[in-house]
Amino acid sequence: MTIEAIRDLIRQMTLEEKAGFCSGSDFWHTKSCERLGIPAIMVSDGPHGLRKQANLADHLGVNESIEAVCFPAGCATAASFNRELIEEMGQTLGNECQAEGVSVILGPAVNIKRSPLCGRNFEYYSEDPFLATEMAGSLIKGVQSKNVGTSIKHFLANNQETRRMSASSEIDERTLREIYLAAFEGAISKQKPWTVMCSYNKINGVYAAENEEFLTKVLRNDWDFDGFVVSDWGAVNKRVEDLAAGLDLEMPSSNGQNDKLIVKAVQEGALEEAVLDKAVERILSIVYRFTERRDYNATFDRERDHEKARQVAEETIVLLKNEDNLLPLSDNDDVVFIGKYAKAPRYQGGGSSHINSFKVTSALEAAAGKNVKFVQGFHDELDVIEEDLIKEAVEAAKKAKAAVIFAGLPDAFESEGFDRKHMGMPECQNELIRQVAEAQQNTIVVLHNGSPVEMPWADKVKGIVEAYLSGQAVGAAVTDILYGKVNPSAKLPESFPYQLEDNPSFLFYPGVRDLSEYREGIFVGYRYYEKKKLKVRYPFGYGLSYTTFAYSDLKLDKKKMQEEETLSVSLAVTNTGNLAGKEVVQLYVADKVSTEIRPIKELKGFAKVSLQPGETKTVTFTLGKRAFAYWNTQIHDWHVESGEFEIQIGSSSVDIRVKDVVEVSSAVKLPRFYTLDSTIGDLLEDENAMKYVDDLLKNNPIFQEPVEEEGAASKSAITLEMKKAMFQDMPIRGALSFGDGSVSAEDLQKTVDKING
Ligand code: BGC
Repeated sequence: MTIEAIRDLIRQMTLEEKAGFCSGSDFWHTKSCERLGIPAIMVSDGPHGLRKQANLADHLGVNESIEAVCFPAGCATAASFNRELIEEMGQTLGNECQAEGVSVILGPAVNIKRSPLCGRNFEYYSEDPFLATEMAGSLIKGVQSKNVGTSIKHFLANNQETRRMSASSEIDERTLREIYLAAFEGAISKQKPWTVMCSYNKINGVYAAENEEFLTKVLRNDWDFDGFVVSDWGAVNKRVEDLAAGLDLEMPSSNGQNDKLIVKAVQEGALEEAVLDKAVERILSIVYRFTERRDYNATFDRERDHEKARQVAEETIVLLKNEDNLLPLSDNDDVVFIGKYAKAPRYQGGGSSHINSFKVTSALEAAAGKNVKFVQGFHDELDVIEEDLIKEAVEAAKKAKAAVIFAGLPDAFESEGFDRKHMGMPECQNELIRQVAEAQQNTIVVLHNGSPVEMPWADKVKGIVEAYLSGQAVGAAVTDILYGKVNPSAKLPESFPYQLEDNPSFLFYPGVRDLSEYREGIFVGYRYYEKKKLKVRYPFGYGLSYTTFAYSDLKLDKKKMQEEETLSVSLAVTNTGNLAGKEVVQLYVADKVSTEIRPIKELKGFAKVSLQPGETKTVTFTLGKRAFAYWNTQIHDWHVESGEFEIQIGSSSVDIRVKDVVEVSSAVKLPRFYTLDSTIGDLLEDENAMKYVDDLLKNNPIFQEPVEEEGAASKSAITLEMKKAMFQDMPIRGALSFGDGSVSAEDLQKTVDKING
């Protein structure tokens, strides 16, 4: 339907009908209008599977939804660093939605993993906004290629579950732009999701739902978003203000109460009817985008999609440790699988993303036919050390060639709705691992968790496999990796600190009462650990393979560039081992000298290459202005500080293999404003400013640069260095206190005004 036809429909609606269209008819549907022939559409969670509730509805995953396929959760898909694969996963989800008549799948969830404690980290992608936005963008691209919409969420700065419906995320402008908005920006501006879901929380005191700055200025004006904004379920606070701020659709509904407020506001002139018309127009555009392109031939083949879930899972499992190349195991090895999760893997998190999986493959099942025994090891309902279970495990481990312990976080430790209390695993599991590792030197731990855990036993075991929450086929994927049928190729999308206290948000998370201050600013994840030179257990971008890769022939297509130009970076990557494998090539940019406080380096590109043994491929990246820029709060825009930037390419954030330098120039001169508090040093370094400093001030003693007096240094505690520092840092107003009396306060102010033009 054309936009004109939609507008025509809106013209025929009563005020009440229009207001009604701005909220759901029930938990999952928009309203229809029989009189005008407007259909309703259904939306469903998301993000890593279809949670279509045909009967009883809820937003917490309490009631049953249809049987579906649970794909790896966001934490895991991000670890694949594989855009094409996640796009394919999106296509599969889109097709399932078509088959089930679901118009919009509520995801991806792209919030930054600020603290390991966030209960919903398992749904989120990364601590790095570039990785998060690229992976989310791939999922959106895939789903929407099937004419089904997505709802990227939770916009904005919803990084904790504690008081998620009322906390205010207190974040400075630069941090918002470089970290928290950036996680949404690329996906929204490049992949154009049909809808955006605004979060429950406030941002700097204003609810996301009524935040015009983000819902309209950033989203629509800066990023050209043209879909509708939907509230998170129950996020509406003040309906009329929300609508004016840019929140189009309220979900689920307020049983008509908020619709009435909209009608009243229009009647009383408090809300322009055009604002309401625009919201209805945006909603109807999506309604028709879906209904007019229904694919009635689509079928939901669960077995076929399970296979896709397995393929994705294979690339989401990170090999963290493999001492003495203990892995892969061979089929005949006498192995014991220990731990509940070998039989019943924890493969998804709790809450609104919870999928009613039609089947689940455990590692034990997948290992059928191999020489594998199983013992329980622990229960995960309560954290109780059960000595008899541990004893049984130790005995079994002693008899085997290797022991694989399937451990991780129980549901009760990690879920939507509440944050984790600590970063530890259940003590009963830690104790089990310790005792088994003592008895069996070939011990491997497979972890099922959505976010970093402390691993006090890491040095005692030979192998660690981070399986994340990799969906219903995780068992098959893990077994294939353990036995070498699949070569691991995932990398950590987040740093694993040794302990919670090392995390930059530790001092402030989750805040006091409803104030959550993001005082670590832009220093989230590796941006912090690198700057602090703080060692972490496993760094961002890290992950092992059963083969090895060599990096060579780095070429930049220019050595000098203007900020509006692009830089082409290419290099050769060779598989130097004996097994086929995939490597995640990571490109980081480091501003070599900056007058701003910046991270040591930031991820600005990545590519996953598949290589046969001995094979070499050329990998190419294109970098534009954004790769070099930071957010400048003076001009409220991205700015490149002219100078040298290092292009670093490596296999992880701490394993840089090749690097080179490019000089980038910006034509943008930042305006400088002076006050009486500006220093002599500030003036001296600005030639332009100095042109306006008249003799009266220049002749003043505060303007006289100190020089070495003969013999003074040895006699006096007042060194030349100190004098120079005081000279540099002397505020202009110092001419009054330390000058010769020749200038007045008015003279100084006149000088400053002249400089400022
Ligand atoms: C969650 C959303 C979800 C919605 C609908 C909310 O509680 O925060 O992510 O899409 O419920 O289930």
